[in-house]
Amino acid sequence: MASERPIIIVTRKLPDVVETRLRELFDARLNLEDKPFSREELIEAVKTADVLVPTVTDRIDRAVLSQAGPQLKLIAQFGTGVDNIDLETARNRSILVTNTPGVLTEDTADMTMALILAVPRRLTEGAVMLKTGDSQWHGWSPTWMLGHRIYGKRLGIVGMGRIGQAVAKRARAFGLQIHYHNRRRVAAEVEKGLDATYWDSLDQMLARMDIISINCPHTPATYHLLSARRLALMKPTAYIVNTARGEVIDENALARMIENGELGGAGLDVFEYEPAVNPKLLKSERVVVLPHMGSATIEGRVDMGEKVIINIKTFLDGHAPPDRVHPAMF
Ligand code: 8YV
Repeated sequence: MASERPIIIVTRKLPDVVETRLRELFDARLNLEDKPFSREELIEAVKTADVLVPTVTDRIDRAVLSQAGPQLKLIAQFGTGVDNIDLETARNRSILVTNTPGVLTEDTADMTMALILAVPRRLTEGAVMLKTGDSQWHGWSPTWMLGHRIYGKRLGIVGMGRIGQAVAKRARAFGLQIHYHNRRRVAAEVEKGLDATYWDSLDQMLARMDIISINCPHTPATYHLLSARRLALMKPTAYIVNTARGEVIDENALARMIENGELGGAGLDVFEYEPAVNPKLLKSERVVVLPHMGSATIEGRVDMGEKVIINIKTFLDGHAPPDRVHPAMF
C-alpha cells in the first residue's frame, strides 16, 4: 500500500499505546525488536525519514547529519536530554529538534531521592545480602550494618532546573538542608519556598556539603564539571548522586577516589561510557548503581510518547512545536 503519509522512523521500541497512535497518524516505521540502530542503520534512517524519533542511545553527530536527506526536517527526541544530538549541525541544516521536558521530572526526582537514601543507609548492600543466599545474617545486632543519618545534613544540588527543584522539595521533607549551584540564581520566591541557599562558587559549595546531587544537563560547559580537582574538594565522608548524565563527572577519578576511601560513596544511575560501567564502581560496597532507570515508569514513557506525537503533529500541521530545543538552551 503506497503511502502519502510522512515517514516517521522510531529508533527504539516504545510503549504499545504510543506505537499504535504513531501508526494511526503517520507512516511509522517502528523497531519492534528494540535492537539499537547501528551507525549504518541510523544513516539510512536520516536518508529516508521525514521525522526521526531517536533516544539517548542514538548518536546523531555531524557525520550522521551530513548524510541526511533534504526531506528530514524534524528530530523529535524521545527524552529530555539532547546531548546525543549535534544541535549546531542540525540548526545549520535547518532541522528542528524537539524533546520531552517536564513529564519525567517527578519520576527522576523520586529516583534521585531513592539514591540519596540508599547510599548512606546501605540499602542495596543489606537487600542483596539476604537475596543472594550466602547471607551472613545471624539476627539483629546493635552495631551491624550501620550507615549514616541523612536528617539534618547538607544537600548540594548542582543544577536547579525542574528536576533539581523537585529533588529539593523531596529532600526538605526528609530534613535535609538545601544548597544549590546553578548557572543563574533562581527566582527569590523559588529559593524562599525551598529554603535554599545559593552558592555562586561551585568549588566552595562542594567543600561544605554532605551529599551532592547532579541535576544539570550534559553540555560542553558541564562535561567533567565534577573533575578530579573538584571531587577532591569534597569532604572524604561526602556522597555523590548522579541521575543526570555520566559525562558530568570524571568517572575514572570518582572510581579511584572511592576505592581509596577519599569519598563516602556514590549513587549512580548514569555512566560516562554507558552502557559500560567502571568495574571499580561495580565492585564497591559504597556505590549503588542503577541501569539508567531514573525516568523508567510506564506512565512517564507514555507521557514522553504523547509529547513526541504532539511535537510531530504540530510541526507537520505547520505550527511551531511546543518543545523546540535551541542550542543556546543547553
Ligand atoms: C530517558 C533521560 O530515559 O530524558 C532523558 O534525558 O535521561 C532518560 O530519562 C532517555 O534519555 C530517553 O532518551
